[in-house]
Amino acid sequence: MRYRKFLREKIGNRLPDRVSVPSGFQIVGHVALLELHEKLSKFTQLIGEATMEFDHRIRSVAVKTDPTIGIMRKPGYRLIAGDSNTVTEHIEGGVVFRLDPLRLTFSGGNVAERMRLPNMIKGDEMVLDMFACVGQFSLHIAKKTRSRVVAIEINPEAYRFLVENIKLNGVEDRMQALLGDCREMHPVNEANRVILGYLHNTIEYLPYALKALREDGGYVHLHAALPKRDIPSVGNTINTIAMKQGLNTEFSVREVKHYSPGIEHYVFDIHATPIRAC
Ligand SMILES: C[S@@+](CC[C@H](N)C(=O)[O-])C[C@H]1O[C@@H](n2cnc3c(N)ncnc32)[C@H](O)[C@@H]1O
Repeated sequence: MRYRKFLREKIGNRLPDRVSVPSGFQIVGHVALLELHEKLSKFTQLIGEATMEFDHRIRSVAVKTDPTIGIMRKPGYRLIAGDSNTVTEHIEGGVVFRLDPLRLTFSGGNVAERMRLPNMIKGDEMVLDMFACVGQFSLHIAKKTRSRVVAIEINPEAYRFLVENIKLNGVEDRMQALLGDCREMHPVNEANRVILGYLHNTIEYLPYALKALREDGGYVHLHAALPKRDIPSVGNTINTIAMKQGLNTEFSVREVKHYSPGIEHYVFDIHATPIRAC
């Protein structure tokens, strides 16, 4: 039975009329993350308990209270029912992610992108993930390809889970985590591929990603949230930045998910090659 129908049948007579109940939730390990209409704020415990009955994998239920903020992208959730220990293990495509989804973001909408990246790897590459968090993109690559991966994360809490996840997935021999600002600690002229999985002024990090690429060039996956009409101007900016660093670029763009009204989350797959003197 669908979640909305389940809620209506189970507790509908105790909820206010004409207020829309949620149609679904995100599940990360044993934690369900819900967004509720403000008119349902007095009924959170009731809804939380019903949600645990709906899906027996769920042992904790949290509701979104505030927007995700800051450079560390800290989400705003409040526990409304169940176990207060929200550190969990989420399994996706054979990869285990240990994290606390009430304190760190784990986007359900990025799953197709997480699955796509390992399929783009050619042989054994050196891959740099400049915004690693708990390893959302880079663990799939380390686990499914023969690549060497360097993952940088600025938030100590996310970094601790990243280190644990490298061990949990048995990829210590090919994946290394670094704690700090990716602008200051990226390798230089070593990477075949760089992932810029961040949505706020990501273009400012492109010069560092290009510096990390090998001298014969490579690929950068630059994520950005923007209106569709802005794609050509971002493309021009990418070309201008790359030319200043002696690189030609070609790129294709893929929509990852809807972000907010009028704004989509895109990934620019950029192929950079050195400009050869005639
Ligand atoms: C929203 S998360 C995205 C994680 C993952 N790349 C994804 O797309 O699912 C962005 C992460 O980048 C980290 N971050 C932000 N600025 C950073 C910087 N200058 N250097 C390294 N990590 C940074 C944040 O702490 C956060 O964990």
